[in-house]
Formats: sequence, structure tokens, C-alpha cells
Amino acid sequence: MKITHSITEYAALRSALEGHSSPRVAYVPTMGALHEGHRSLIKLAKTRGDVVVVSIFVNPLQFGPGEDYARYPRPLEDDLQVCQADGVDIVFVPSVPDLYPAGRQVTVDAGILGSLLEGQSRPGHFNGVLTVVLKLFNIIRPHVAVFGEKDAQQLACIQRMVADLNLSVELVGAPIVREPDGLALSSRNVFLSATERAVARSLSAALEKAATQSSVRSARAAAYEVLDRAEAEPCFELDYATIVHPSTFAEVPDDHVGLGKFVVAARVGGTRLIDNTTINFTPAPWA
Ligand code: PAF
Repeated sequence: MKITHSITEYAALRSALEGHSSPRVAYVPTMGALHEGHRSLIKLAKTRGDVVVVSIFVNPLQFGPGEDYARYPRPLEDDLQVCQADGVDIVFVPSVPDLYPAGRQVTVDAGILGSLLEGQSRPGHFNGVLTVVLKLFNIIRPHVAVFGEKDAQQLACIQRMVADLNLSVELVGAPIVREPDGLALSSRNVFLSATERAVARSLSAALEKAATQSSVRSARAAAYEVLDRAEAEPCFELDYATIVHPSTFAEVPDDHVGLGKFVVAARVGGTRLIDNTTINFTPAPWA
């Protein structure tokens, strides 16, 4: 496994690949603190490419003022061991000044999609994500890139960017990996106390209940039964829980039929958690 901190060195490695049989490069962008969710992305990447590249970079541009950029976990040695064990070929670990040299001015604007939901609670977040992802795509030059479906709106924004800016990279979404009790894996779960961890489970429990329903109205009601109970806990503050169109993230009407994404976000103690599930809503039998 090659580990490089340098854009120039990576470029040389990438060019050397072209000299061989032009293998397909499958790419997993990460912010490190790798867990089973990331490992599932790497596993999927291995089925989609001949050479797997993982980047580890905690991107300051996607954190707002007062967010957890400074305390975001950075266990680089552990992460490298995970990459080694999982058969990653190249790990790219750039520095902040290398990716964002002084004098830079141009960023990507995530548009309307980037201003909804997560974008409303975290202004500028998706502009920061798209800017770094575009830069990383240009540096890594992957044929295919794998992203987790837990960050559903992030994946939708990246899909929009790839379409709108004519990028030639194939995107693959990987299913959410959960703890045995349903909590979606996240690098931020380490911040939860035991009490907060128990309350955090309400997010996936609400989605599980909603997913058994066939209409938008009953799915919302089922989820809110669980979320209302969680809101009685002092550490739980719901941000949003709503059903949206899977690619525009516009809220769907009560009579929506077909796929909808139930997206939730809450602050549990000092930690912001998100989760989602896709539900296929069927027409009412009397319609
Ligand atoms: O999902 C993440 O870990 C990050 O948002 C990403 C895509 C690596 C960009 O910094």
C-alpha cells in the first residue's frame, strides 16, 4: 500500500498506472476515523475497480463556525491500518495548505439542493463538500467514486455536480451500515455519552416505524410517535424529520406515490446526527 501526502507524488503514481494496462481506479473519499461504514465503501470500491484509492482529509471548508472541525477525530495511524487490512492500494492524505493554498478564490456553489435541510442548518456546508470533492476528483482522476448513502443529501449534491459540470466519473452509493440496534454508523458516534447513545437510537427507530407504512401521512405520524418521545429527553433536539423526493430533496405532498426519502437530523448532546431511509409509497386502495 502506498501512502502519499503530496499532490505531485500522487500525480506521478496515477500517471504510472496509465503506463500499465490502464486499470480502473475506484475512489473512496473520506475524512478518516474509519469505521465499518467506510470499510463497506472500500469493499464495494474493490468490486468496481482494479486499483482502490482512499483519501483522508478533514475538510475545513465544509464545517461552519462553532461546528466540530477542531475536535473531529483524526486517528491517522488506525486509519492506515484499516486501509492496509482492507487491501487499499493508495492512501492520499493531503494537508490543508496543499489543498487550500493562500490566494484561492473559486468555490463550487451547490445551488438550491445545497440550501435545503442540511444546507439550511449548516449554511455553506455543501459548497464546502462540493469544492473539496471536485478538487479531489481532479487530483485522484478516478473512474468510479463510492459514497455512503447515510449522507443522502451529500450524495444527491455530488450527483447534481457530476451532471451539471459534465464530470466523467461514475458515482456509486453504498447502503448505510448500522449498529445491531439500528443506529447508523458515524465517525461522530464516539462523541455520544451512554445516555445520549441510548437516545440516539430514536432516529433509526423512527425511520424503521415509518418504513412499515404505505402513505406519506402515516409514515410521518409513525415516525413522530418515536421522535416526540425522544424530544422529552433533555439531550435530544430534533432539527428536521421530513419526506423528500430522492433527488431534488423537495418535500413530497401527502398523496405522493413512488419513492420518497425520509430524512432526519437531530442534535444529541453536542453531537449532530443524521439518518435516512427510502420508502416506496403505494396508492391508497380507494384511490
Ligand atoms: O462524507 C465525507 O466524509 C465528506 O463529506 C467527504 C465526501 C469526504 C468530503 O469531505
